[in-house]
Amino acid sequence: MFSEECQLADLLNQFNTTADTGQNRLVYSEQWVHNQQTLILLGQNHGAQAMVDDYGNVSLDFPGQEETLPIATGSHMDTVRQGGRYDGLYGVLGGFCAIQKMYQQGDLPKKPLRLISFSEEEGSRFPAAFTGSKYYTGQQQQVAALVDETGITFEQARSNAVKQLQAMNVRRQRAPLPASFTELHIEQGPRLAQAHQPIGLVTGIVAQNRYKVTVHGQANHAGTTPMAQRQDAIATASRLMASLYDLADKSSNSLTFTIGEIRVSPNVSNVIAESCTFTIDCREESDERLATFLSAMNTVIKQFDNVTVEQTLHVPATLLSQALRQRNAKIATQMKFPFQELFSGAGHDSQIMNTVVPTTMIFVPSKTGISHAPAEHTKMSDLLIGVALLTASLSAQANEA
Ligand code: GLV
Ligand code: MN
Ligand code: MN
Repeated sequence: MFSEECQLADLLNQFNTTADTGQNRLVYSEQWVHNQQTLILLGQNHGAQAMVDDYGNVSLDFPGQEETLPIATGSHMDTVRQGGRYDGLYGVLGGFCAIQKMYQQGDLPKKPLRLISFSEEEGSRFPAAFTGSKYYTGQQQQVAALVDETGITFEQARSNAVKQLQAMNVRRQRAPLPASFTELHIEQGPRLAQAHQPIGLVTGIVAQNRYKVTVHGQANHAGTTPMAQRQDAIATASRLMASLYDLADKSSNSLTFTIGEIRVSPNVSNVIAESCTFTIDCREESDERLATFLSAMNTVIKQFDNVTVEQTLHVPATLLSQALRQRNAKIATQMKFPFQELFSGAGHDSQIMNTVVPTTMIFVPSKTGISHAPAEHTKMSDLLIGVALLTASLSAQANEA
C-alpha cells in the first residue's frame, strides 16, 4: 500500500505557500479547498477510503485486519490570518506519515487507522471556533448566518467549498466516531524549547471564552464638534480596553487576556467614530477562576455606556485521557525521548473530540515559542521525533487485543 518513504518536509512544502504574509488558509477559502482536495487524493493513492461530511471534514480510512472502530489521528487544515507552517497542518501530514510508516512495517494492523483533517479550529474567518470537530462529534451549532469581514455567510462559504470536495470520488457522509483520537501538534509556546525537551504529553487544555464588544458613538465632524459634546466610540473603547487590561493584569497568573482585533466605522481620520468593535479572548486552566474573571469583567464593562457584548465562544477546561497519556509516556521512555507533561494554553480539536472518545495529544517544541505568526518554526529533527512517537502510539493502540 505504502511504497515510498514519507517525506514530511516535501509534504509541508507542498501544502504551504512561500508568501511573506504566512499561511492564510482560512476555512473554505480557495487554498483550503485545494489542500483538502490534495489530501484526499494523497490518501486515496495510498489505499484509503475517503469520507467528506457537510462541514468539509475529511476522514481517510486505512484498513485493518478486523472490522472495528478505527484508531484516529489528525488535526485541522485551517490557519489563522498570517499564520505559520505547522499549526494544524503538522498534525495532518505528520499523522499521514505515521500511518504510512505503520503500513510499511509489514502486516496490516489489527484495527483500522483513520486520518482526520478537520475543516476549522481557529475561529479566524467567522466568529465561531472548532466548527469542524463540533460537527464531527454531533454538537449543535448556530453558525449558518455568521458573516466574515466581506459579508459572506458561513452557509454560503461552506456550501460552495464542500460542494467541490464532495464532487470528488468520496463518501459524502459524517464519519462514524473512531475508537480514540491522538493529535500531534506543535506546542505553540516556549516551555519545551526552554527545557530542551523534544516531547510534551498534554494533561489538559484551557477553558476559553471569546466575545465581540461594540461601543456605539455618533459620527460627527472632527473639527467642529466640541470635545464635551461628542459621543466618540474610539475614546470610550480605548478607556474600556485599558480598564480590562488593568483587570487582567491583577488576575490569576494562569489567565490570558487578548484583544486581537479592532474595527472602527467609518474609520476616517476627520470623522468621530460611530462604532468601535473589538474582540476579547480569555483563557484559564480553571473553569472557576475563569468565571471569577468574567464576572469582574462584566462589572467593568457595565461602568461604560453604549456598549453591547456578544459571546462568540465558550469551551470548558478539559482533562484529556490519562490512560492514553500514561501509555505514551511509557512508549516515549522506551524510545528514549525525554518528555514533560504540560497543560495547553492553545485550544485544540482534541478538547472537542475528548467529549466523545478517549483523546490524547503529543506536542513538539516551537522554536522561541512563536506561533500564530509566519515566524512559527520547529526543526525537522523535532518534527520527526513527534512522528516517530505517534507511529509507535498508533501501532500500540491498533494492535492491542
Ligand atoms: C487556536 O489555535 C487557539 O488556541 O486560538
Ligand atoms: Mn492548532
Ligand atoms: Mn491555532
